Amino acid sequence: MSNVPSASEVPKMDAFTAMGTRRSIRWYEPNKPVERWKIQTMLEAARQAPTAGNYNGQRAIVVHRDEDPEIWEFISDWSQITTQMAPVLVFWMYDMANYDTMGQSIHDLLRTGGLDKAHGWEYDRVSRLFPLPAMLPDAIMHRLAAIDLGNAIQNALITASALGLGTCLNGASGGARRNVKEKFNLPDTYTFCWLMTLGYPAESVDGGGRRPRPPFETMYFEKKVGNPFKRDPEVVKLVEGLNLLQPIAPLPGRLEEINKLTKRFGLGDEYLTDWKLEPSQLGDVAGDKPLKPLSKEEIIASAEGAEKSDFELHPTVKREELESYREKRGISAND
Ligand SMILES: Cc1cc2nc3c(=O)[nH]c(=O)nc-3n(C[C@H](O)[C@H](O)[C@H](O)COP(=O)(O)O)c2cc1C
Repeated sequence: MSNVPSASEVPKMDAFTAMGTRRSIRWYEPNKPVERWKIQTMLEAARQAPTAGNYNGQRAIVVHRDEDPEIWEFISDWSQITTQMAPVLVFWMYDMANYDTMGQSIHDLLRTGGLDKAHGWEYDRVSRLFPLPAMLPDAIMHRLAAIDLGNAIQNALITASALGLGTCLNGASGGARRNVKEKFNLPDTYTFCWLMTLGYPAESVDGGGRRPRPPFETMYFEKKVGNPFKRDPEVVKLVEGLNLLQPIAPLPGRLEEINKLTKRFGLGDEYLTDWKLEPSQLGDVAGDKPLKPLSKEEIIASAEGAEKSDFELHPTVKREELESYREKRGISAND
């Protein structure tokens, strides 16, 4: 029996809400499986993202932690805890070889009515100009491919958010990159970029509030740099109403949430977050100030009442511990 729901059974979330409620989720329900149809739906969304000349170089490898319990070892140290907890990992990469068929994909756009003669497109002209790699330096080709991959990933992230799932992108150090290349037998034309953790959030879906951004006017301009695109407070109110702009972090109770999760997954007191959560300083001209420490009592109180999970985390967030773990497992320190 198929366990794929019908379209009418899937709760619909509009794009504003899906974008506005997405957070990088770093705590997952480790034993709550992700439905296969949801993973496929994310990949379907990624496949529909725009790519330069319909190049479609994005690639993803889906891995289930329970089928490959040591998969997290392949990732850089910053993300070890997140990758241990997530039941699904998606490795995102692009294939430069696809650019060799770009002429064909553009011809196909002519054939299927996406491109037209009025815009200057002709079969023979495209044949002369493509494939691009013969003409453009590698750095430019990689930039194109990385932007395309980013678009695809973003579609998958937003889809996950609309389906009630949590995601986080994770970087990979040089060693992790080499591991991934070997582990998945990647052809030389593949460039591995990001690992996405995927699962049901163990933290609240709002992740303790919308993560801060620099002031709007410092990022977006009109006519020229330095001439801010004026931010209309009425539009701000509108996008709040559309759920695109959610209440900003830190929301009350966030410290308690983080520290209870720390305890729940068996990490010792030394892993408890021991600073006060405060409003963002991204907009302060003077820059950031040191974090304010909490007293020992405040730290202990923040984690009180945590229920213990039987899921075991390997506490590798400290580099020494990661190194000794890797030594025991015979993984090179350079990895
Ligand atoms: C390309 C990319 C790489 C990232 N790498 C990491 C990572 O290695 N570890 C991590 O915890 N978060 C990582 N993140 C998540 C960012 O820290 C996060 O997007 C940012 O803090 C904004 O928070 P938000 O996604 O909840 O809005 C990455 C995000 C992107 C887009």
